[in-house]
Order: sequence, then C-alpha cells, then structure tokens
Amino acid sequence: MGNDNSLNIFFEVMEIGFNPKEAKGLDLLFKYNISGPRGGQWYLKVKDGKLSIEQERLESPTATLTISDEDFIALQSGRLDPADAISSGRMKIEGDADANRLLQSAFLGKQYLSLNDRLYDYMLDVSLREPAVLKSLRQETEDMMPNNTLMIPPDQGQFLAWLAKVIQARRTLDIGVFTGYSSLAVALALPDDGEVIACDVSEKWTNIARQYWEKAGVLDKISLRLAPAVQTLDSLLEEGQAGSFDLAFIDADKQSYDAYYERCLRLVRTGGIIIFDNTLFHAWVINPYMDDAEITGLRAINEKLLTDDRIELSMLPHPDGITLVLKK
Ligand SMILES: C[S@@+](CC[C@H](N)C(=O)[O-])C[C@H]1O[C@@H](n2cnc3c(N)ncnc32)[C@H](O)[C@@H]1O
Repeated sequence: MGNDNSLNIFFEVMEIGFNPKEAKGLDLLFKYNISGPRGGQWYLKVKDGKLSIEQERLESPTATLTISDEDFIALQSGRLDPADAISSGRMKIEGDADANRLLQSAFLGKQYLSLNDRLYDYMLDVSLREPAVLKSLRQETEDMMPNNTLMIPPDQGQFLAWLAKVIQARRTLDIGVFTGYSSLAVALALPDDGEVIACDVSEKWTNIARQYWEKAGVLDKISLRLAPAVQTLDSLLEEGQAGSFDLAFIDADKQSYDAYYERCLRLVRTGGIIIFDNTLFHAWVINPYMDDAEITGLRAINEKLLTDDRIELSMLPHPDGITLVLKK
C-alpha cells in the first residue's frame, strides 16, 4: 500500500460515498485515478461485500473514477458535492455499465438527492413564481445583510403559501417575523378576511416588514405583536382563541420551540398544521460537538414529535429541515 496519506484518502473516500455492502455478491474492481501532484492510481476491489485496496493492477478494472487532485481534496473536505462533481463532469466514472451504475448510485445516494447550487437553480428556474413584492423584499434584506440565513428562501415561501391554500387557511400564526418574508408570503395566499398574527421582538426588523406588507396591500391582514412570542401566544389562549387558527409557522429562537409547540397545538384547530423551520439546522443536530441551547432545543423537539400521538408527522430535508405537524 502507499503511504499513510493515501490510505487516509481512501478511507475518507469511502465515507463520502461508496458503500461496499451495496456491492455484496458482486466482484468489482475499480481503478481510482487522481491527477495532480499528490495524485496517483489505486485499485479498489470489492468481493462479497468486503473491500480491499490494491496498489498493483491485478486484472482489468470494471470501472474507473477520474478526478483532479484539487477536486479530490475539495470532495474530501466537503467543499465539492459528489453529485455536483459527477453532474458537472469533474469526476468521471467510466467502464462497465453495472459497475458504473453501482458507483454512480453509491456516490449520488439511492433514496435522495444531495441538492447542489446547479440543481437548486434548476429547481427554481422550473418552479419558482415569486411575486414582485416578495422579490424586492428578499433583495432589500440580502443587500442589508449579505450571507443572511434568517430569511426563508423563496421556494419555502411559495411552499407555505401553497399549503395555506391547500388547507384553505384563514387565520395563521407567524412566530419569528424578521423582515417579514414568511408572513407576507402567507398573507398573500389568504382570503380577503384572512389574518396573520405575526410575533417578533425586534422593532428594527419588523419596521421593514411593515413597509412591505403595506406595499403588497396586506397591512390590514397582518397583526404585529411586538413581544416575546410565548407571551403573545399565552394572551391569545387567555382571550379564548384556542382552536381558531389553521396554520402556525414557527421560526423564532430554537430553544423555545417546545414552548411554542405546546401553545400552538392548543391554538390550531383539529386538522390544522404547525410547521417548524430549521429542524436540521445546518446539520448541526447530528454534530456531537455542537450542544448549545438552540441545538439542544431542536434535538429535544425532534425526538418529542416522533412519539407524540396527538399529531401526524412528516419531515422534509429542504432547505434546512422543515417539520410538518398535523393536529389530530
Ligand atoms: C429566523 S428569523 C425569522 C425569519 C422569518 N420567518 C422570514 O421568513 O424571514 C427569527 C426571528 O425571530 C425573532 N425572535 C427571536 N426570539 C424571539 C422571541 N422570544 N419571541 C419572538 N420573536 C423572537 C428574531 O427577532 C428574528 O426576527
């Protein structure tokens, strides 16, 4: 075998994508070409689900993977997505058709797609119908705060609006307003007598929200409550509004998600929907080194929902984990 570095490279490649168990029963030998100063050629052999790495060529490889040294490092460090590497031709898999299919599916994942920028852009190109007013709100927010991850992306706004229409929502809760994208997207989807109760603590951000609600002609549909959201939800309950909401979107401080959940579960009607945003939170929920209050709060609500028989549950991975809860 090569030096320790080359061994590490291989084992990390295995973690990126290739699962020898998927090749069980197949005798497969493939060649891995890495071009560049640290590059070279190796042979990976899979027999009965067991993987071995050979430096010497033993027989004709059934498939060849070719990638530049630079891209290989990017792939290992997670800067280059395997799906993107394959679809852009930066990583080539050539050879025997079965081996090719096996390796492609191992790299791309069998049950789900890893979204990358090119595929996401395509998805937006063929599905996004963003109203002009939402587009300018998004632009202004991005100009004010480049790299912002607070505002929901446009396709998620469209999803919320779509869902509001599917369930013919009239009254909704927006917990975590920021510059108003989610509340505006939903307000535009509600009937004329619809109402969004929008909860936030920031006067600065919600001043921008208010301007756009006005521009969009929905100011009279949105009632802004500037106070900690738990306090606002408690007052709604005290006012006797339990069971009167169709939809709640929870997107404020993550450590309070359980407090918001218990209150929203009382405020929404049977058959109403609660949506939690960021339930995968940049994948930090599975990072054992991350344990601040927000991540701990998210893990707790994720685990609680799984066995909560008051609701029907579904979770979607895009864009940052969305959990959908239907009140039984
Ligand atoms: C991720 S942003 C919401 C993004 C928004 N849904 C959108 O579509 O752009 C979170 C917001 O929650 C607000 N927030 C944080 N803690 C809060 C609390 N205890 N009560 C109410 N709002 C809170 C913040 O001020 C911030 O504006």
